[in-house]
Amino acid sequence: MPTKDEFKGMTTLVTGASSGIGAAIALGLASCGARVLVHYNSNLDGAREVACQIQARGGEAELFPGDLSCADGVCKFTEKIQALGRPVDILVNNAGTLLRRARILEVSGELWDDVITLNLKSAFFISQTVVPGMMERGQGCIVNISSLAAMMGGGIGASVYATAKGGLSTLTKAFAREFAPHGIRINAVSPGTIDTNYHRRFNTKEGLESVRVATPAGRIGTSSEVADVVLFLCSDAARFVHGQVVEVNGGYWLA
Ligand SMILES: NC(=O)c1ccc[n+]([C@@H]2O[C@H](COP(=O)([O-])OP(=O)(O)OC[C@H]3O[C@@H](n4cnc5c(N)ncnc54)[C@H](OP(=O)(O)O)[C@@H]3O)[C@@H](O)[C@H]2O)c1
Repeated sequence: MPTKDEFKGMTTLVTGASSGIGAAIALGLASCGARVLVHYNSNLDGAREVACQIQARGGEAELFPGDLSCADGVCKFTEKIQALGRPVDILVNNAGTLLRRARILEVSGELWDDVITLNLKSAFFISQTVVPGMMERGQGCIVNISSLAAMMGGGIGASVYATAKGGLSTLTKAFAREFAPHGIRINAVSPGTIDTNYHRRFNTKEGLESVRVATPAGRIGTSSEVADVVLFLCSDAARFVHGQVVEVNGGYWLA
């Protein structure tokens, strides 16, 4: 695990840091000394709460808004990163959701575009924006938050989301291969079922209980259990780990 000051002096950007897994990652990076850009889209209160918690513990946090579900939003967001005037040392592409459940025959072109842009295209172009600065310094780290859905195809109504996450796992390997020679490590964490707003919105109590019963660990996961793996991948302890997709699911899927 990273040491207390492991990320001191580093600028880190966590997308989707206003709740759940992203919030836990932002808090974890800050607790190891990082300055955190707390990205959010609609949940300003959540993002403020995360930034306040970081500042209350003596850390540095800055709110960084943006809608990543449309091409224009992604473009504006990457322009804002370029205008920061300081390099991003660690990027966590965490923002994502399935937006709404739709069976395959009901998927519109608009839903396809929004879900693919939010979960896949935004990660590609945000990474593309921060990589040149990392190359200049000969170091940097990117972690993408994929999903078990990438391997399993997703539940009913989540086909586009699962497809996007499959793409995200694949782009992790493509980026890792191309930028490892420049000292940049790109990996992914693939959570199983984690107790966040995602499931409050898109799952049922019965659905969660059936996952719990089928999980060898006997429970669903917490955001901090995903964040811990992200922190490890960002740390020096993972210095020879490139292009991996780490499954964090309590043994639900043993491939
Ligand atoms: N929970 C799970 O079981 C699970 C499993 C596998 C993978 N994941 C992945 O883990 C990541 C975090 O999800 P979570 O479970 O922590 O859920 P969450 O609490 O709902 O967090 C989702 C985050 O994505 C952001 N987001 C949503 N729509 C956005 C948009 N249009 N533009 C920019 N950002 C947007 C949200 O920002 P605002 O709220 O500010 O709009 C929020 O910060 C996601 O990529 C998700 O796919 C979760």
